[in-house]
Amino acid sequence: PVTALKGQYPHFMLKEIHEQPEAIADTIWSLATLDPPALYFDDLGPAAERLASIERVVLIGMGTSLHAAMIGQRYIEAFARVPAWSDNASEFRYRDPVLDDRTLVISVSQSGETVDVLEAMAVARQAGALQITICNTEGAQTTRVADGTVYTRAGLERGVASTKCFTAAVVALYLLALRIAQAKGRLSQGDLAAHLAELAHLPRAVAGIIAQRDAFRKNALRHAQAQHVLFLGRGLAFPVAMEGALKLKEVSYIHAEGYAAGEMKHGPIALIEPAFPTIAIATRHALRAKMVSNIEQIQARGGPVTGIVTEGDAELASLCDAVIAVPAVSSWLEPVAAVIPLQLLAYDVAVHRGCDVDQPRNLAKTVTVE
Ligand code: AGP
Repeated sequence: PVTALKGQYPHFMLKEIHEQPEAIADTIWSLATLDPPALYFDDLGPAAERLASIERVVLIGMGTSLHAAMIGQRYIEAFARVPAWSDNASEFRYRDPVLDDRTLVISVSQSGETVDVLEAMAVARQAGALQITICNTEGAQTTRVADGTVYTRAGLERGVASTKCFTAAVVALYLLALRIAQAKGRLSQGDLAAHLAELAHLPRAVAGIIAQRDAFRKNALRHAQAQHVLFLGRGLAFPVAMEGALKLKEVSYIHAEGYAAGEMKHGPIALIEPAFPTIAIATRHALRAKMVSNIEQIQARGGPVTGIVTEGDAELASLCDAVIAVPAVSSWLEPVAAVIPLQLLAYDVAVHRGCDVDQPRNLAKTVTVE
């Protein structure tokens, strides 16, 4: 109940953005310990002993949760070396997917009540796939259907635009990927300890980014009158670009698109002009050199570019029209660092435009009906 109050914040969304260091820490340390370095997935149930036999993984979700799933896909392939892909649950449920008892379907849903996710889980169950769900709501419907649950510990999220549940889901997926790698004998104790040590630094890094909100706001408001905004990212930053676009469009009603930056020459570059701003995620591990090339191509066509960069990146600070700098974190955790300024940008633009930040028009917090 205490998290249901706005406290000193004008909106739930801003409060929940500020709650992310705690949400991330609570999620991490509900699933792992640093000393000794160990993983504790107490709610996996029967799924725990079947992880070793898994031969491929499908991650499903909708909206922000799909973006977290897209990041989880990359973690699973990188750490467990198991083929993985992510799919929009409303597409998955109708495409007659090829599944079997060696397939693990991971659903991501903070509410655990999204109808498309539940229907997709029914398809997976019919096919005999193993199911684990990432959920922020104790006892939600998805936790009753899945064979195992990984709870995020973000606390009640009231803002329709999901923020703390996204970053909590990303760290939960990071740890689940490690747990799968461990089950398949592909994670040494030393590597586990190194991953957990990186994760241990994340809450403080996130708090440091949030503390710079006032410095970010001037840049954010440069986008308040835009009709359209393009978000670009590569690798792990591509889902972050998708998430940044979703945040901006759902709270400020500005049309925004998240794109894999490599797609620029396959169409989107035709849109570039001075009135069409781009936000490029070019942190140090986000295929930065390729992003520099994207930024130069956009600027050559008169498009303004705001870069999300790693602190101290003097080259990009001079190249971009504006930069928002985040502290250096491990490559795997850059998505969490990069998304924070995008959440704040969406929030500040929406407030500036007088939008109903916590209850945007046409939207519900949970989509329980078709
Ligand atoms: C995110 O800001 C949106 N409110 C929406 O896309 C949401 O992520 C989606 O409806 C999925 O909700 P769930 O996580 O509860 O399944």
